[in-house]
Amino acid sequence: MSEILGICGSARKTGNTAVLLNEVLESTGLERELVFLSDLNINFCSGCLSCRKNKGQCPNNDDMQVLLDKFLSAKAIVLGSPNYYYCISGLMKNMIDRSIAWCYLGIGEYTGTEWHGWMPLTGRSISFVISQAAYGCEAALEPLKCFSEWTGSKHVGTVIASIGSRSVTDFPEYLEEARQLGKKISVAVQMKVDKLGK
Ligand SMILES: Cc1cc2nc3c(=O)[nH]c(=O)nc-3n(C[C@H](O)[C@H](O)[C@H](O)COP(=O)(O)O)c2cc1C
Repeated sequence: MSEILGICGSARKTGNTAVLLNEVLESTGLERELVFLSDLNINFCSGCLSCRKNKGQCPNNDDMQVLLDKFLSAKAIVLGSPNYYYCISGLMKNMIDRSIAWCYLGIGEYTGTEWHGWMPLTGRSISFVISQAAYGCEAALEPLKCFSEWTGSKHVGTVIASIGSRSVTDFPEYLEEARQLGKKISVAVQMKVDKLGK
């Protein structure tokens, strides 16, 4: 299990999102793991909301449990996605839709309400990376922000690379932005560790 977890919503393993995520992760100096959602078996959310009625238990038996364990063991998370039609990729959106079950874990026990359970990523930092040709990333960021709010994670920074039809490796300024974000994340993780006295 890693200290910093990157989640890649592009299926292109050497694509722009993956390159930026790798820059961020490496520059934190933390023990890292980059997960490609395209390697996992994650079914679509059927919208049954039985997770809300059953304290976060989802009837799907797939890789979301493995992913939850990875999220829980990380101190920092970086979500990366290409902009597809002014949105995140379907891979990333599907993971976020399914994560609603995580937010109903312990429902009623922690908050005493029937709407909110445990905020599973409380105390963890979260950052976003978006790669796009030209425009539309503002809308694409919205579901990522919503995930952060629902899970209780603290936003540290965002890198947006607008690269036309070229590769992000042609843009040293975006690679540098990604490295700067990595450094900011490691400071955020350190501050939290110090605060906890660990
Ligand atoms: C289905 C699809 C939709 C896209 N929609 C947009 C868009 O709305 N705006 C934009 O600027 N780029 C768009 N792009 C371009 C990608 O965001 C861009 O090429 C990105 O860098 C790809 O990331 P990757 O190399 O990590 O896969 C789209 C690409 C695809 C394949």
